[in-house]
Amino acid sequence: MRKIEFFRHSIEETDIERVSAVLRSLFLTTGKEVGEFEEKFSSYSGRKHTVGLTSCTAALHLSLISLGIGTGDEVITTPMSFCATANAVLHAGAVPVFVDVEKETGNMNADLIESAVTKKTKAIIPVHLYGQMCDMKKIRTVADKYDLKIIEDAAHAVEASRDGVRAGQLSESACFSFYATKNITSGEGGAICTDSEALAETVRMSRLHGIDKGASERYSKRFQQYDMPLLGWKYNMDNIHAALLIGQLERIDTLWERRRKVWDVYKEFLRDIEGVETLTTVPGARHAMHLFTVLVAAEKRDPLLWSLQEKGIGVAVNFKPIHLLKYYKERFGYREGDYPVAEEIGKRTISLPFYPSLKEEEVRFVAAALKSEIEK
Ligand SMILES: Cc1ncc(COP(=O)(O)O)c(C=O)c1O
Repeated sequence: MRKIEFFRHSIEETDIERVSAVLRSLFLTTGKEVGEFEEKFSSYSGRKHTVGLTSCTAALHLSLISLGIGTGDEVITTPMSFCATANAVLHAGAVPVFVDVEKETGNMNADLIESAVTKKTKAIIPVHLYGQMCDMKKIRTVADKYDLKIIEDAAHAVEASRDGVRAGQLSESACFSFYATKNITSGEGGAICTDSEALAETVRMSRLHGIDKGASERYSKRFQQYDMPLLGWKYNMDNIHAALLIGQLERIDTLWERRRKVWDVYKEFLRDIEGVETLTTVPGARHAMHLFTVLVAAEKRDPLLWSLQEKGIGVAVNFKPIHLLKYYKERFGYREGDYPVAEEIGKRTISLPFYPSLKEEEVRFVAAALKSEIEK
């Protein structure tokens, strides 16, 4: 049976050679390659500082605690995300407060934020769903009115912009993921980008227990004692992962351009299928095109997932809304109906195979399978 994988990474021989060179060298943990990646990522994202970490979850967690958000605080975010977004808030000791999303984009509805602000609110975490940025200008205006920090969950949005704004430009920090299925990947990995030198410095220390000198500094310079001014975690990116990312970052626009073509082919093939909708890309947005999702009738969704799988097509659901996950329901008493727009997307969405090397003929096969199943 033919197989159309849900995701294929775009790692090339040159990336493998770069990783091999690190493996043949002496220094495997945070050092030269991490520094090179951070510099290149800052230059790509247009931000002053990048700090390489082990995941986007770590990036969200360290951003929160480095901005002083913790016990007794509330953080406004969206239920239409991976649980990592809200989990990071809980790990920081704070409580996530959800607002519903826009029907057209699945992104946090910026008009609802104000009604969720309380005396305890300290920050907002917008999530740029599937690669399309939230309305950051609007969100910044609300944040300024109530003196709130913004931490962007930009796990899907390395290449995105909206109204000329990039991730990290209107926020305290933007958090990125290099997880196995992301646009550029090191299997696991993450980073924060920020224009704040103070925040970058705190996150840099916090990624390594809160000590003020890394192994690379201790090794490459005259021995110096380190101190531990604050209590940090163990979230530092290593040279092996950084080496895997550097070449992909150099090719990032070519990879985006290839995904854009695949996206257009999907749009073309799906256009005339009754009962299949797609979300909207708003004017002024450069979509990072991380996931290609469709919406079908809720009662048809799960049978469709199964029949596509039976035809060898990889599929996923992004996402079941966070407030309906068992832990959140039990701890916070959430129920079906609390965030109806997110729930509607959660019940109707299917993520289809989507990556730079997906062929037109494979997209045609997926679209035809979708059509024949939906018309049954
Ligand atoms: C929207 C979103 N936020 C955060 C994360 C967490 O990323 P990581 O696995 O790098 O911690 C993911 C991961 O898939 C995600 O999709």
